[in-house]
Amino acid sequence: MQDPASIDPEGGISRNRWAILLTVATVLLTAGFLFFFYAYPHLKMGPEQPIPFSHRLHAGHKNIQCQFCHPYVGRSKHPGLPAVEKCLYCHNYIIANHLWIKKEHEYFNTRTPTPWKKVYYLPEHVLFNHQRHILKDLACQECHGKVEAQDRLAGERFKMGFCIGCHRERGANIGCWLACHS
Ligand code: HEC
Ligand code: HEC
Ligand code: HEC
Ligand code: HEC
Repeated sequence: MQDPASIDPEGGISRNRWAILLTVATVLLTAGFLFFFYAYPHLKMGPEQPIPFSHRLHAGHKNIQCQFCHPYVGRSKHPGLPAVEKCLYCHNYIIANHLWIKKEHEYFNTRTPTPWKKVYYLPEHVLFNHQRHILKDLACQECHGKVEAQDRLAGERFKMGFCIGCHRERGANIGCWLACHS
C-alpha cells in the first residue's frame, strides 16, 4: 500500500516548498559568504597577485630578511616593492624553468613592472613615514602582523585608532597629530 500522504497533492507541494526554501537559503548563504570573503580581504585573504609570491616560503622558510626585498623602508617614504631583477637574482638559478618564473622573465624582457596589488591601506589624508618607526626598533610585525607566516598577504585597512593607540602606549607624540594629516 502507498502512503496516502505521497498521493495527496497538497502534501507533495508543501514538501517541495521546503526543498525549494532550503535550496534558496543555501544559495544565498554561499553567495553571502563569498561576497564577504572577497569584498573584505582583511578578514581572510588579500587580493590575488599577478605571481603567487609567498612570504611564508621566502621570509619564513628560507629566512630571507625583509629589508633584502624592501630596502628603502628605513630611508624613504616609500619602502617600495622589489623590482623583478631582485627576484631573478635568485631565480635565474633557482627553479629557473618554473611557470611563474617564466612569467617574471616576461615582465623583465618587456620592461613591465610587476603589477602587484597593494594590500595595506591608510585613509587618504594620513601621511605615514616608516623611518621614525624603524629607527625606534619597532618590528615590522607590530604593524603588519605575521607576514612571514602568510602565503598570500591578507593586508589591512588601518584606522586612526591604530596610530593613536600605539602612540599613547609608547608615549610617542600625539600632538604631532596635526602633522600626520596633509
Ligand atoms: C634570495 C633568493 C630568492 C629571491 C630573491 C626570491 N626567491 Fe623565490 N624562491 C627562492 C627559493 C629558494 C624558492 C624555493 C625553490 C624550490 O621550491 O626549490 C623560491 C620559490 C619561488 C616560487 C615558487 C613557489 C612554488 O609554489 O613553487 C615563486 C613563484 C617565487 N619564488 C617567486 C619569487 C618572486 C616573485 C621573487 C621576487 C619578488 C622571488 N621569488 C625572489 C629564492 C628566492
Ligand atoms: C624575496 C622578497 C621579499 C621578502 C624577503 C619580503 N618581501 Fe614583502 N613583499 C615582496 C613582494 C614581491 C611583495 C608584493 C606582493 C605581495 O603583496 O605579496 C611584498 C609585499 C609586502 C607588503 C605589502 C605591501 C602592500 O602592498 O601594501 C608588506 C607589508 C611586506 N611585503 C612586508 C614584508 C616583511 C615584514 C617582510 C619580512 C618578514 C618581507 N616583506 C619580506 C617581497 C618580499
Ligand atoms: C608603525 C607601524 C609600521 C611598522 C613598524 C612597519 N610598517 Fe610598513 N607600513 C605601515 C603603514 C601604515 C603602511 C601603509 C602606508 C601607505 O599606504 O602609505 C605600510 C606600508 C608598507 C609597505 C608597502 C609600501 C608601498 O610602497 O606600498 C611595505 C613594503 C612595508 N610597509 C614594509 C615594512 C617592513 C619591511 C617593515 C619592517 C622593517 C615595516 N613595514 C614596518 C606601517 C608600519
Ligand atoms: C606600534 C606602535 C606605533 C604605531 C602603530 C604607529 N606609531 Fe608613529 N611612532 C611610534 C613611536 C614609538 C614613535 C616615536 C619615534 C621617536 O621618538 O623618534 C612614533 C613617531 C611618529 C611620528 C613622529 C612624531 C614626532 O615626534 O615628530 C609620526 C609623524 C608618526 N609616528 C606617525 C604615525 C602614523 C600616521 C601612524 C599610523 C598610520 C603611526 N605613527 C603608527 C609608534 C607607532
